[in-house]
Amino acid sequence: MSSIAHGKVILLGEHSVVYGRPCLAAAIAPGVEATARDSDGPVSLHVSPWQCTFAVGDGSDLGRALDALSQALGVTGFDLDAVMHLPGGGGLGSSASLGVACARAVSSLRGLMLDHEAVLAAALAWEKVFHGNPSGVDHTLAAMGGVGVFTKAEGLRRLDVRAPVRLCIGDSGERASTRDMVATVARVREMRPEASEKTFDAIASLVRNGALALEAGDLRGLGELMNLNQALLASLMVSTERLEAMCRAAREAGAYGAKLTGAGGGGCVIALAGPNERAVLDAWEALGVRAKVVEVGAS
Ligand code: PMV
Repeated sequence: MSSIAHGKVILLGEHSVVYGRPCLAAAIAPGVEATARDSDGPVSLHVSPWQCTFAVGDGSDLGRALDALSQALGVTGFDLDAVMHLPGGGGLGSSASLGVACARAVSSLRGLMLDHEAVLAAALAWEKVFHGNPSGVDHTLAAMGGVGVFTKAEGLRRLDVRAPVRLCIGDSGERASTRDMVATVARVREMRPEASEKTFDAIASLVRNGALALEAGDLRGLGELMNLNQALLASLMVSTERLEAMCRAAREAGAYGAKLTGAGGGGCVIALAGPNERAVLDAWEALGVRAKVVEVGAS
């Protein structure tokens, strides 16, 4: 039997969440499925559809993440197969989803009956290999699902969303590492400390208003907040020309709002398209963007 974990989108508040501010995030499915088997060799992981295998001691980030996971769980002598339903490095929480699915698969293989905290701790050890200083939003959503406001200090406060919200997700095809983009924002903050703190505070107030809008089903309002968040993310130097073009195309096609999601520097754009979903998808297709529609907030 395979173990599963979610992916995620950040509706509002990436990067500022690293500095203690809240973010509004939602799980997306399908994320990652993983199965574990007993094995005598080194702990290893085969990932489909990448058709790549990683092992503890092979010098790769995934090899190091496997080592961290196996030490956090206190378990060796297994190998894993994982199926990714998310693009890697696209800002949709693929690495955290993989970590959570793997922790759950090992736990079910050995009958560990891990509680939630133990899965989160193992997935955090995994995530630290890729991110250095993750806020924790990715692996929390990967494990818990749902929609909510996340802070480093308090974790996830779930929101009661009346009806599922449909989002268009377009993949720019560009890639940048989360670690590098978090470092970019750290540099901006070093150069302009006061302005950056004000930007983080402004994003925090968008998040608070966004949570209210989402609970009230005010998608037009939420879209406007997404547009404002995108401008602030661009001021933190994490947007790109292609991401801006995708946001512009979505808005011109009638979306209520559009923004990058995740670390930026590439990856995905989310658009709240309302009744203009088809037009947004067509506009992105004209830009050569691969896109899909997901529902968030479904119980
Ligand atoms: O690009 P992703 O899916 O790893 O998301 C990163 C989100 C950040 O806020 C930029 C970093 C973090 O740890 O919260």
